[in-house]
Amino acid sequence: MAHERFHYKSLDELKKTAVEVGASLPFADHTGILGTPVRFGTATVRNRLGIAPMEGADALPDGSPSEFTRRRYCRQAAGGSAVIWFEAISVVPEGCSSGTQLLITRENVDAYRRLCDEVREAGFRENGVAPLLVMQANHSGRYSNPGNRPAPLIAYRHPWLEQFRPADDSCIVSDDYLMALEERFGEGTRLAREAGFDGVDIKSCHGYLFAELNSAWSRPGRYGGSYENRTRLLKNCIASANVYKDEHFFVTCRLGIYDGYPEGPGFGAAKEDPFSLDLQEPLRLVRELRDECGLDTINITMGNPYATTHVTRPFDFGKYQPTEHPLTGISRMIHGAAAVKKAVPDMTVYASAPSYLRQYSDLYAAGAVEQGMCDGMLFGRMAFADPDFAGEILREGRIRPDRVCVTCGKCGDLIRAHKPTGCVIRDTETFLPFYREFVELKPSLPENYRG
Ligand SMILES: Cc1cc2nc3c(=O)[nH]c(=O)nc-3n(C[C@H](O)[C@H](O)[C@H](O)COP(=O)(O)O)c2cc1C
Repeated sequence: MAHERFHYKSLDELKKTAVEVGASLPFADHTGILGTPVRFGTATVRNRLGIAPMEGADALPDGSPSEFTRRRYCRQAAGGSAVIWFEAISVVPEGCSSGTQLLITRENVDAYRRLCDEVREAGFRENGVAPLLVMQANHSGRYSNPGNRPAPLIAYRHPWLEQFRPADDSCIVSDDYLMALEERFGEGTRLAREAGFDGVDIKSCHGYLFAELNSAWSRPGRYGGSYENRTRLLKNCIASANVYKDEHFFVTCRLGIYDGYPEGPGFGAAKEDPFSLDLQEPLRLVRELRDECGLDTINITMGNPYATTHVTRPFDFGKYQPTEHPLTGISRMIHGAAAVKKAVPDMTVYASAPSYLRQYSDLYAAGAVEQGMCDGMLFGRMAFADPDFAGEILREGRIRPDRVCVTCGKCGDLIRAHKPTGCVIRDTETFLPFYREFVELKPSLPENYRG
C-alpha cells in the first residue's frame, strides 16, 4: 500500500487520514494531564512522560558507559521526563547485541554507579528533582552479536526470521543454558541495584531471547510447548530479580504483546491470520506477572525491529516496501496497551511508540492517558532528536515542532553499523560524522542488513 509521507499541516488533517486508513487514535485538546503524578514502581513520579530504552552502541570495550553514553543520559535527564528507561544492557557477554552494547559486570559496576549519579545530578540541577532510572536487562538471543560477530542463541528454528539473520540447529540453546540464566539475571539485578538504578526491567520484547520463548510452541522440554513452559524463563528470572526488591528498588518488564510476523509462529497473533491480534496469552501473562510475580508497573511494546520494524517503530516507508500505513501501526500499539490497561487496571501501564506523530505526539500521549488507555508514554526516537521534549510540554504546553523527530531511520542505521547512535538531523555536529562513516561502510554490510 503506497502512502504519502508525513505532511500534515494540522491535527485535523492527520485525524482525517487516520479515519481513512481505519486507525483510531486518541488526541487531547491540551497536554495538562501529562504534568500530573502517577505511581511508578516504588515511587510516585511527577509527570507521565518517560524516555524509552534506546541503545546507543557507544559502550567502552569492557561494556561500561562512555562519554557518549554519559552525554546522552545527562541531556535526557535535564530534559525533564520523570522516567528514564535505560537502553538494553546485557547481563551476560554472549548475549550482547554488538561489541558496543552496554554490559554490566562485577568489574565495571562502579562506572554504572558514576553514570547514575551524574544522570540524577543533571536532572536535579535542571528540574529540582531527579528522574527515576530503570535498567533494562537483556539477552539478545537470536540477535546476539558479541564483538560484532553474529552468534545467534535461539529458542527454536524460525525459517521466516532466518531469512534476515541465518541460524541453524547448533544455535538452539539448551535447557541447562536457560536454567543458568535464571541465576545470572538475579546477579544482573543485584548489580543494577548496586549501581544505583531505581529498578530493573527483565526485558521480554522485540524478538530477543525472552520474547522468542513466548512463541516457542515447537521447542521440547522445560521451556517450550505449553504456555507454562514458554513463559517459565521470564517468570523465573523475575523471581530471581525479586530477591533484590525492596521499598527503594522495583522490578518491571517491557513486554512485547504482538510480534507481527507474517509467517511462522508469533506471540499475540491469531492462528488463522497473523496480521490480527489474539491477546489471550499476552493478557494472561500480564495478569500473572502482577499476581504471581508481584509487578505493579509494565511497559507495552510490539514487533521485532530486525524483521517487523514498522510494527515496533512506525515510520514513513522509503527504502522498504510499504506494508501498512504508519498510523495503522500506532493505532495497533495504543489499542494493545489499552487492552492491557483494561485487563489490569490497578497496574501502571506505559505505552510506546509516539514519535511518528511528531508535533502531535504530545496531544496523542495526553489523549491516551485522558482516555485511560495507559498511564504514561515512553518516547523513543523523539528523545534522541529533542531530549528537552518533556520540558517543552510541561513548561510551554506543547512540544517544539522545529525539534521533533522526523522518523528518518538514520539512528537505526547507525546502531546497525555499531556506531555511536543519536539524531543525525537534530544533533548533527555529533552524529553526522558517524553517519558519513556508515554511508561509506554500507556496501560491505552483510546481505541481510536491513537498516
Ligand atoms: C536506535 C534505536 C535503539 C533502540 N534501542 C532499544 C533498546 O535498547 N531497548 C528497547 O526495548 N527498545 C529499543 N528501541 C525501541 C524504542 O524503545 C521504541 O520502542 C521505538 O523506537 C518506538 O518508539 P518511538 O516511536 O517513540 O521511537 C530502539 C529504537 C531505536 C530507533
